[in-house]
Amino acid sequence: MSPLTTAAPGAPVVDLDLADLRRDPYPAYTELRRTAPLAWVPSVGRHLLTRYEDIVHAEKLPEVFSSREEGSLLLRTVGPNMLREDEPNHRRLRSAAEPPTRPRQVRDLWAASFERTAHELLDRIAGRGGADLIADFAEPLVAANLALVLGLRTASAEDIADWSRAMMAGNSNYADDPDVWLRAERATRAIEGAVAEAAEAARREPDGSVISSMVHADGPVELAEIQNNVKVIIGGGVNEPRDVFGVGAWALLNRPGVLDRVLADPASWKRVFEETARWVSPIGMYPRQLTQEYEIAGVTLPAGSRVALVIASGNRDDSVFERADEFDVDRPHRPHLAFGGGPHFCMGAWVARHEVSAIAWPLIFSRLKGLRLAEGATASDSDSAAGRMDGWVFRGLTSLNVTWQAA
Ligand code: HEM
Repeated sequence: MSPLTTAAPGAPVVDLDLADLRRDPYPAYTELRRTAPLAWVPSVGRHLLTRYEDIVHAEKLPEVFSSREEGSLLLRTVGPNMLREDEPNHRRLRSAAEPPTRPRQVRDLWAASFERTAHELLDRIAGRGGADLIADFAEPLVAANLALVLGLRTASAEDIADWSRAMMAGNSNYADDPDVWLRAERATRAIEGAVAEAAEAARREPDGSVISSMVHADGPVELAEIQNNVKVIIGGGVNEPRDVFGVGAWALLNRPGVLDRVLADPASWKRVFEETARWVSPIGMYPRQLTQEYEIAGVTLPAGSRVALVIASGNRDDSVFERADEFDVDRPHRPHLAFGGGPHFCMGAWVARHEVSAIAWPLIFSRLKGLRLAEGATASDSDSAAGRMDGWVFRGLTSLNVTWQAA
């Protein structure tokens, strides 16, 4: 089914400027939820679905809302992969890759190394009394953790972070910038080489990693499939946990009373994680393509229609989350959409939860005494959205400058 690149008959058409969306997409989402919960947005080339209940509904019907969006930017960047497959192929790849990311494996196989890496990174900066915790701590931490979980022993944290940036830029290259494609191609070649080497080593000696798990899977998995899925995981395994780390740390440093309560009750870090991921979802939206005609949000979409599930909007839906624009770690539990839903629910959720809420946040606050935002870094949430907070397909802080009493 080839994708339809025009509005469905009867769908409201809403012009949105991509630069405005990058700066702060939330006002536009509020308006869409109120007036056009399914709207064709020409600059995005898709219908945006923005209400919580409609997104959940779509995720429950993967046979209608297919992940095999043809011509998708992700497919162009990395090639066929589990995220853009439907059943049964999706299940075959996911079952092969998933075991090392389950909660028990995270705890038993990876947690100690995650913690050691976090300490090493903090050892390097503790004496400085100031740093950008995104560039100097969170990104190298989650990149090193990902290299470990994937089984890319020869790749440095820097390689992983660079590759990830190139994958993400390709995947959100709605402007079709040729330089972005060139960088993405260079990164994919480098990843393919590193995976081939790691797969060969894991074939001889299994090591519990994702690559090893795919090499030794029950069903057949080709090397190219392992390579493409590793590319997807590198694309999604760095930015998202890094961005939850940054936004959550920043939100707490801006709210000293909440921070004190969290520090007094370490069990609450888990709630901070879920609320941060809801409040500023690291992945703002992802695409689906209709396999058949289907009516949703008052519009009948023909087969082939392209829809973006705007989870960042669903996570701010006031009909589900009271005062949804506020960061509130005490809000009553309602499942958020930041990890997606249905068969493609994020495979790395437990890795991300552990590395951020059990390790990264508690360690920065226990080791960097008197941690606070650097001069000029304190800002209202909307100031931040205009400055350091950036993106709508992917969203997070571009930097987190802090100071502390140097050890
Ligand atoms: C806070 C951190 C993270 C967030 C918010 C996040 C979010 C998401 C979302 C929304 C999806 C579904 C996309 C779709 O259905 O099109 C997804 C899928 C996925 N994520 Fe994550 N992710 C995070 C961290 C990670 C990490 C650390 C890894 C790897 C260790 C990872 C690996 C994956 C994979 C492999 C999929 C595809 C699953 C499938 O198709 O079955 N993610 N993620």
